[in-house]
Amino acid sequence: MRTFDNSTSSTDLFRTPRVFQRMLVTGGAGFIGANFVRLVEQEWPQCEVVVIDKLTYAGNRENLAGTKAKLVEGDINDAQLVDDLVGNTDVIVHFAAESHNDNSLKDPSPFITTNIMGTFTLLEAARKNGVYFHHVSTDEVFGDLEIGAPTKFTESTAYAPSSPYSASKAGSDHLVRAWARSFGVPVTVSNCSNNYGPYQHIEKFIPRQITNILDGRTPKLYGTGEQVRDWIHVDDHNLAVLDILSHGEFGETYNIGADQKDINNGEVIELICELMGRPGDYEHVADRPGHDQRYAMDATKLREELGWSPRYTNLREGLEQTIAWYTNNRSWWSASKESVESTYASQGQ
Ligand code: NAD
Ligand code: DAU
Repeated sequence: MRTFDNSTSSTDLFRTPRVFQRMLVTGGAGFIGANFVRLVEQEWPQCEVVVIDKLTYAGNRENLAGTKAKLVEGDINDAQLVDDLVGNTDVIVHFAAESHNDNSLKDPSPFITTNIMGTFTLLEAARKNGVYFHHVSTDEVFGDLEIGAPTKFTESTAYAPSSPYSASKAGSDHLVRAWARSFGVPVTVSNCSNNYGPYQHIEKFIPRQITNILDGRTPKLYGTGEQVRDWIHVDDHNLAVLDILSHGEFGETYNIGADQKDINNGEVIELICELMGRPGDYEHVADRPGHDQRYAMDATKLREELGWSPRYTNLREGLEQTIAWYTNNRSWWSASKESVESTYASQGQ
């Protein structure tokens, strides 16, 4: 069993950084995980990365093309496989999840199996092998905030998840903290706001609208479109995860958010339409049941204790880069477009 230096100090920035030679990334063939693997190769070239990914509809081998990462196709619920992989790594970075709210409203079952049971399986392997476990979670565990209010979620906001997806993520966060407290597993947790950027599945809001326009379809706004999300570029999320891995304090949770001024879905869709030369050309469709109204993250702890700050501070520029990526990588998304849209159409969305 390894031991870890976790001496606390008020100047965490100056703590000796942890350095890893081997890293296990769960869900590394998905959107954020694949961008993370690319970032690790760039920032920590000494580190050998192994990815475990079930390659569900959301996972794609191509997302790791050109990287040196070893991809093991497998389920995080496969205890034997997980134990073998965890026994040969220095750190687990846990991204694997069922991640789409709308899907969780149709069939919650895989959300419970992967997000809760899968996290349990990984934690047991981390406990047995004495391996550091970083858990990637979401702002949605805190529920939602009132539109127009000045409040933000902090690390001590009470959990109040609304959907089967967010409830399953909340459950997994609780397991991680319990394994730290009861069994001494070295853990950190991060809760991040809405990501955007390359390789995001086209079921999600921003890539759905970009590819709708590229494919000659009309962008679709749920309900009134007044809901607010706290958009962050995926690289900024992943840079924060690297900061936490290297000098975050074991047992601690860090909120990640880019401090965008509140922008609602209607304004985001207007901006995408304008940037793509189709101003105002979108339609309203059926709203999401139980739709969370507003998310806003207070990331002061991450900024002050770990020295993180976002590189993408201008959503317009981040969207321009993202639009260019989907425009230049049509073959990555075009085969799945028809089936994604026919599923949405069957829901009136
Ligand atoms: P994604 O759906 O794009 O990718 C998930 C990956 O996990 C896929 O590659 C999939 O094949 C894999 N996977 C699913 N079930 C698995 C299983 N049982 N075993 C092994 N692999 C499995 O998701 P994402 O948007 O990249 O999100 C990654 C993580 O970040 C999730 O934990 C999510 O809750 C969290 N998160 C996402 C956002 C966001 O805006 N997308 C924000 C905050 C936190
Ligand atoms: O906040 C973090 C969360 O962000 C992550 O934990 C989730 O994994 C991730 O999917 C995302 O959840 P959301 O439900 O906020 O993201 P989504 O892209 O599905 O929707 C963003 C907003 O846009 C939401 O208010 C619903 C709305 N929407 C969505 C789609 C797909 C539309 O108006 N039209 C659409 O076509």
